Amino acid sequence: MADTVAVAADHGGYDLKCALLPELRALGFGVLDLGTDSRESVDYPDFAEAVARAMEEGRARWGLLACGTGIGMSMAANRHRGLRAALVHDGLTARLARQHNDANVLVLGGRILGPELAKECIKVFFSTPFEGGRHARRVAKFSPVKANV
Ligand code: RB5
Repeated sequence: MADTVAVAADHGGYDLKCALLPELRALGFGVLDLGTDSRESVDYPDFAEAVARAMEEGRARWGLLACGTGIGMSMAANRHRGLRAALVHDGLTARLARQHNDANVLVLGGRILGPELAKECIKVFFSTPFEGGRHARRVAKFSPVKANV
């Protein structure tokens, strides 16, 4: 479980997902591919939900989501308690999402990033530890989920 990444995309992230699955396997991760399986239009929250369920049930420790921009997937994933989804654009945001935010879901924009930059994001994200300390205090303040907006 510890080394499994649950991966899902909508049609906007499908091509990027296809490009990234071999990269994840090459890095030594188990991959749980939860779709989508074509460029046909689908609803991204359904796929964020599938990854969240896999993580909540302990079938995967990590998540990787892609949609067109990454924005919708981030919003949907962060509705789930225990998921910390970070929309990442480059190596710097990938590193800081882990070091400072203890992100456990990497979100990428399939219409924003090319595959090589996305591969760099994956390598950095999954090899960078959480720094803890003051960041742990801040991350702890994410819960309970606030319902006033
Ligand atoms: C789908 O057209 C698009 O809205 C979706 O992939 C994503 O970018 C949403 O945030």
